[in-house]
Amino acid sequence: MTKTAIIYHSGYGHTAVVAEHVAKGVTEAGGEAVLLKIESAAQDFSAILDEASTADAIIFGAPTYMGDISAPLKAFFEASSKVWFTLGWKDKVAGGFTNSLSFAGDKANSLSSILTLAMQQGMIWVGTGLAPGAHSNSDAAPDVVNRLGYYVGVATQSDNAAPDITPPPGDREFARLYGVRITEITKKMRG
Ligand SMILES: Cc1cc2nc3c(=O)[nH]c(=O)nc-3n(C[C@H](O)[C@H](O)[C@H](O)COP(=O)(O)O)c2cc1C
Repeated sequence: MTKTAIIYHSGYGHTAVVAEHVAKGVTEAGGEAVLLKIESAAQDFSAILDEASTADAIIFGAPTYMGDISAPLKAFFEASSKVWFTLGWKDKVAGGFTNSLSFAGDKANSLSSILTLAMQQGMIWVGTGLAPGAHSNSDAAPDVVNRLGYYVGVATQSDNAAPDITPPPGDREFARLYGVRITEITKKMRG
């Protein structure tokens, strides 16, 4: 069985919902999903780094804050320089997701930050593999998968409301399908 580590930060619980749906997809596709939550930029990251090093795939997620990944994930990325010295994550499968309030909100920049980290670590990036779900405002209903039209990674949008109701069902399904896709690709790569 392939193992996927989902390493994420979530200040207010919305990105955590996305992480849980990615994990659901991993499990449904027959993989093992390990959710690893980053609590703060100041924490000791050793346990998460060790756990990630045993995974076949690592998916990173964070809310978009001020147009980029939140500081706790960035701090974790800097801590992962320890792994970079030995190329310890080379050829592991990688992916990323971000959630924010605005429909755009500069989420592409957050995904780009995650992609760059994965490339620095020599990982193999997997995009969403899905067509955009909407081509007009009237198409972009909350139950539409990939309603924001992202290819690089999963981008979701939550309103200013509790995480049990937002992000909406289409975004949750988008995250689940990404977990399935990454697991199917990881299985092929690991034989
Ligand atoms: C410090 C801060 C900066 C933010 N910057 C952005 C932003 O650049 N773009 C955006 O669309 N939303 C922004 N937001 C809104 C968050 O992305 C949104 O509330 C998201 O749901 C938070 O996810 P979380 O609940 O996982 O922390 C910001 C929120 C905070 C607290």
